[in-house]
Amino acid sequence: MALSKRLSLIGSMVRSGSRVCDVGTDHGYLPAFLYKSGKCESVCATDIKEKPLLSARKNLAAAGAEGVELYLCDGLDKITREMADTVIIAGMGGEVISGIIARADFLRDNTVTLILQPTTSADKLREFLAANGFAVLCEKAISENGKLYSVIQCAFCETRYPIDGVRKYIGFIKPDYEDGRAYIEKQYRIIEKRVEELENAGMNDYRQREDKETLAKLKKLLGEGEKNGV
Ligand SMILES: C[S@@+](CC[C@H](N)C(=O)[O-])C[C@H]1O[C@@H](n2cnc3c(N)ncnc32)[C@H](O)[C@@H]1O
Repeated sequence: MALSKRLSLIGSMVRSGSRVCDVGTDHGYLPAFLYKSGKCESVCATDIKEKPLLSARKNLAAAGAEGVELYLCDGLDKITREMADTVIIAGMGGEVISGIIARADFLRDNTVTLILQPTTSADKLREFLAANGFAVLCEKAISENGKLYSVIQCAFCETRYPIDGVRKYIGFIKPDYEDGRAYIEKQYRIIEKRVEELENAGMNDYRQREDKETLAKLKKLLGEGEKNGV
């Protein structure tokens, strides 16, 4: 079964022998793939709506992956630590993902891995992770259908940490591959536009100074990538 580039990247961050829960599964393609791959000890999935779960059930049956347990619930409300040591939350806004994590106490355990893929507000999600003691283990950018996404693998480490503008807007994405560079360039353009608009409106406050600092750091990062032939 072929997965999209985005779902493949998410799947590649799942370790062998994991007990996986895919939150907000919708079509169920990822749990079907993970189940069929044989690399997971168990696979389950949730969705807050009945209709997506019906489509997941159909796709799982077509793929011969009926062993994937499906749960109708908000976030991880019906899932326990015994059922999952790897939680995937993909294809939702960064604030929705933060809310799901905040409500699930069992995620505050350094033996649980989270794999997150926000569709919007990735900056808000990165701030939430830092403020709540989730350390980023790996972060990669991926393009799909003309859009760029970040996929973040993280785990609870208890220690809260501050993040600057670079970590907030690009996380740990590096410019040494095409999608990584494109992601950083896109964030650069967004911040640059915001600075220009505020300047044109005659505003000059600490937020612009922070944005300008971030722009300088991103420019350096992109320049270094170029020097290294990226
Ligand atoms: C755009 S789809 C993403 C599907 C899949 N995860 C992916 O990345 O391709 C979002 C799905 O998340 C579900 N969803 C939204 N909020 C949720 C929540 N709080 N708990 C569980 N599922 C939720 C929606 O019903 C929908 O099926």
